[in-house]
Amino acid sequence: MKPLSKKVAAIVPSATIEISNRAKKMQREGIDVISLSIGEPDFDTPKHIRDACIDALNRGETHYAPSNGIPELLSAISEKITGENNFSCKPDQVIVACGAKDAIYEGMEAVLNPGDEVLLLTPAWVSYEPCVQMAGGKIVKHAVNQKTFQLDDSLLERVTTSTKMIVVNSPSNPSGAVFDKKSMNLIADLCQDHDLYAMSDEIYEKLVYGKGHISLASIGDMAHRTITINGFSKAYAMTGWRLGYAVAPKEIINEMSKVQQHSVSQATTFAMWGAVAALKGDQHCVEEMRAEFDRRRIYIMKELSRMGYETAPADGAFYAFVKVEGDDMAIASRWLEKGHVAATPGSAFDAPGWIRLSYAASMDRLREAMERIRDVGGN
Ligand SMILES: Cc1ncc(COP(=O)(O)O)c(C=O)c1O
Repeated sequence: MKPLSKKVAAIVPSATIEISNRAKKMQREGIDVISLSIGEPDFDTPKHIRDACIDALNRGETHYAPSNGIPELLSAISEKITGENNFSCKPDQVIVACGAKDAIYEGMEAVLNPGDEVLLLTPAWVSYEPCVQMAGGKIVKHAVNQKTFQLDDSLLERVTTSTKMIVVNSPSNPSGAVFDKKSMNLIADLCQDHDLYAMSDEIYEKLVYGKGHISLASIGDMAHRTITINGFSKAYAMTGWRLGYAVAPKEIINEMSKVQQHSVSQATTFAMWGAVAALKGDQHCVEEMRAEFDRRRIYIMKELSRMGYETAPADGAFYAFVKVEGDDMAIASRWLEKGHVAATPGSAFDAPGWIRLSYAASMDRLREAMERIRDVGGN
């Protein structure tokens, strides 16, 4: 047989998979594993959103829809962005995709040529690099300051004549850190001085605890060069709905649209009606979930500090990022094998020496997990 694609062969499977497969195997064997390795809210999608989707199904919204999304959703997103994110957005600057992940992939395909360099700020979520690779680009990594989790001028040293784009994710998965105004301005200046595109993944924007969220596209001329990524998975607990979106200049959206038309066609029609209800409906549900995450965050950070762990500033998302002494893979293995707590080693995110704990679990489970980690230790 002729060999399969070299491009896909070069993509390494996520390092998170090994631990999570082992955790699942242990659970199948009847072991009570507490999973703090999951990147999804433990809440159900709010009822009014589910009802809107069911209504849509019952009135026959089961057919193909416009590829970029139903007009009602495109308008709702453009109103949300213009009203909340401090930059102007028209409906033709929006594309609804099958999850933020799909929007990220389409954005990379739309912008990159083979050999274009993409700056990735690490620690970074696992899917940016494969998306860049699939689009033919080359990743150049830059580690944020591992005390403050902010940026400084050393970022400028990574720029070459081939740099085309920078990927920004604030609030961050995995660190939970939120970039302050200084870091965001530094990125904006870099993009303006070197004529770069930016992809700003703001999927955790609603989950911030004190520090305000800043949209990159709201700074200077950034709206003309930024693909803002967002979605419904985290803010509205809609992970399985597979709905996300990108907001960008129309020329970029048109290119993304071609990728979408010839691959997934569109996001699911009736699911998009649920998303309209999410954006147009009462936002109390978002605040309730955020407040519950905050309660757990305060608890888990206090416990980790009591155990002597250093952590990244947990200002956003639902992750505690914990510094460990020694091999993070080995320590995460010990927590799993001996403590029956599944956590994600930082190496998966280009941050060896750290472990990510998701606090998207009930308080009872978090309490139990903290006890188990205390018992098996790590540092
Ligand atoms: C930073 C970040 N971006 C994007 C996604 C993907 O979100 P979606 O479920 O909308 O594809 C995730 C999911 O874990 C994420 O953590």
